[in-house]
Amino acid sequence: MVEAFFRFYFMENIEPFAVISGASRGIGAEYARALAAQGYHLFLVARDQDRLNQLSKEIQQATSVQVWTEALDLAKPNAAETLYQLALSYRPHVSLLINNAGFGLYGLFSGMSLSTIQDMLQVHIHVTIESTRLFLPDMLNRRQGAIINVASVAGFFPIPYMAEYAATKAFIISFSEAVAMEAKENEVTIQVCCPGYTETDFHKTAGHCPRHISPPHTPHEVVQKSLKDLRSRQTFVTIGWQGLATQWITRFIPKKLLTRLTIRFVRPIFSSH
Ligand SMILES: NC(=O)c1ccc[n+]([C@@H]2O[C@H](COP(=O)([O-])OP(=O)(O)OC[C@H]3O[C@@H](n4cnc5c(N)ncnc54)[C@H](OP(=O)(O)O)[C@@H]3O)[C@@H](O)[C@H]2O)c1
Repeated sequence: MVEAFFRFYFMENIEPFAVISGASRGIGAEYARALAAQGYHLFLVARDQDRLNQLSKEIQQATSVQVWTEALDLAKPNAAETLYQLALSYRPHVSLLINNAGFGLYGLFSGMSLSTIQDMLQVHIHVTIESTRLFLPDMLNRRQGAIINVASVAGFFPIPYMAEYAATKAFIISFSEAVAMEAKENEVTIQVCCPGYTETDFHKTAGHCPRHISPPHTPHEVVQKSLKDLRSRQTFVTIGWQGLATQWITRFIPKKLLTRLTIRFVRPIFSSH
């Protein structure tokens, strides 16, 4: 009886548990490493089970946290519900949900594959909204917990040749900022993390690496800034001076002019391929 009480107490109140989507590599894998070092037990999902296994092994060699993994294609219908049910089968409460999974699509919108467009809407929008809806009520009831939705500086303004990607990230920013305000009253933090160009497989997967005027962030920089700002309960997070500069530019340059400048900057990448 006493033992059961202590097990319950420790699981509920002391041992934090994080659920991370898109944890097989890049920024998601870095969140997993950083949170494991802070003592979080982890539930990691992505499609690539081998990479998840490798990461789980690496984390379990370096720490004493428990790691569960699942190969889950978030582009499939009801993926958020599956994620939620699996998470609850491991731990009764989730302390931190990170909606990080995502991918880029470069090119003329009219020429893009419709099924890839639908996958992006599913992964970026449906999963973010549905999983926030599923995980948030328990956090609000307990007045404890946080959600990080990974967006991008690409969500700050319309980007020709990345029209859908930029629009889905703008959606995530708007959604997160609104729900963050509602959740604040119950001590729950919702953060929208907006990295700029970051050194991961993202651009290779998307098929193009656009020109950038500044060196890339490392996933480590992105995650450290995000987790530091989570401690001070910041909602809107950018990384380094590049993030601040993009915020400044998109706030003060008229949108029409900005979109014209952007298309000039982006179009040559496509005409040269
Ligand atoms: N890199 C950048 O420059 C940059 C800048 C701003 C924002 N971001 C955002 O940061 C987030 C992480 O990207 P990253 O840079 O770390 O790229 P990455 O290295 O390509 O990682 C993307 C992650 O998302 C997962 N994923 C993609 N589609 C999925 C699906 N259908 N189901 C489940 N998991 C899926 C991938 O896992 P599997 O392939 O194993 O499924 C992988 O773990 C994304 O939301 C991205 O939009 C990136």
